[in-house]
Amino acid sequence: MVTQPLVDSYGRVHRDLRISVTDRCNHRCVYCMPAEGMAWLPRSEVLTFEEIERVAGVLVGRFGIDGIRLTGGEPTLRAHLPVLVAKLAALGTDLSLTTNGSTLRTIADDLATAGLARINVSCDSLRRDRFTTLTRRDELPRVLEGIDAAVAAGLAPVKLNVVVMRGVNDDEVVDFAAFGRERGVTVRFIEFMPLDADGAWAAHRVVPAAEIVAAVDAAFPLVPVARGHEPATRWRYRDGAGEIGVIGSVTEPFCASCDRIRLTADGKLRACLFATDETDLRHLLRAGADDAELAAAIAGTVAAKGPGHQIGQPAFIRPGRSMSQIGG
Ligand code: 5AD
Ligand code: SF4
Repeated sequence: MVTQPLVDSYGRVHRDLRISVTDRCNHRCVYCMPAEGMAWLPRSEVLTFEEIERVAGVLVGRFGIDGIRLTGGEPTLRAHLPVLVAKLAALGTDLSLTTNGSTLRTIADDLATAGLARINVSCDSLRRDRFTTLTRRDELPRVLEGIDAAVAAGLAPVKLNVVVMRGVNDDEVVDFAAFGRERGVTVRFIEFMPLDADGAWAAHRVVPAAEIVAAVDAAFPLVPVARGHEPATRWRYRDGAGEIGVIGSVTEPFCASCDRIRLTADGKLRACLFATDETDLRHLLRAGADDAELAAAIAGTVAAKGPGHQIGQPAFIRPGRSMSQIGG
């Protein structure tokens, strides 16, 4: 079938799909979830594998989406995840997953065998006590084992997502760089965004991307790498020991070249992380919509996409969902 580009009113072509497979999480990151956790979605409201496969099939087949990332909550908590991975791998896109890493030790091999290509592990501290404070779970050793398991399973390149927060973990930037060099993983430093459930975000907690790069460069000299479609700016170590990425979502917004759409666990399509409206694809699926109707709803959602977030400006509206509900 001839594909048509999934384009919005600003001319941005969308190629990248993020699918949240569950809103559940076994961590309680302070910037993501309230301490008491959240009310999880009832099972009946979560898309089935068949429904996810159907939406993904329309997006790939009709609109030429060529990258799919599975997210959560924590995606590895979804039962039988490798079954879904195998279904999506058959669509032939670049298939990846973002995880908190705590169950990877047991599932990395199965995911790789099912056809997962790459993996990102979220980890914001290499100090056990601090990790426990940040995630409200004492699981740093398991996460580190998970990272090793992912490398061993060949889910390359393994990337480590680090949200840098002023006064919280900004003193670990160079430690993370050293860790990445030793273990052969690409560290991706992410600016703290106002998406947290408890309102922990404040502008003074954002550590600018430029400052992060300068800190790493002072310890391990860096050379810029040409930027592709991804939101990260890339830098490689001059001595050849790998590379880092820095995602300056707040100080260097990449909204103008955003190519991403998101499907939440309950089947809502979001054209932007910070979108305040969503399209209920689950309702369409369960009402018996055919592929043409799904495609029209998808195209309409993307056509109506706004220019981008306005963090720091008076017009900024924090989305009604936290990161764990949207899916990173
Ligand atoms: N700002 C930046 N990154 C965040 N993440 C979760 N909440 C935020 C936030 N407020 C990150 C997680 C994970 C990815 C899915 O998004 O740490 O790496
Ligand atoms: Fe879970 Fe990720 Fe949220 Fe942490 S940031 S609580 S790992 S969904």
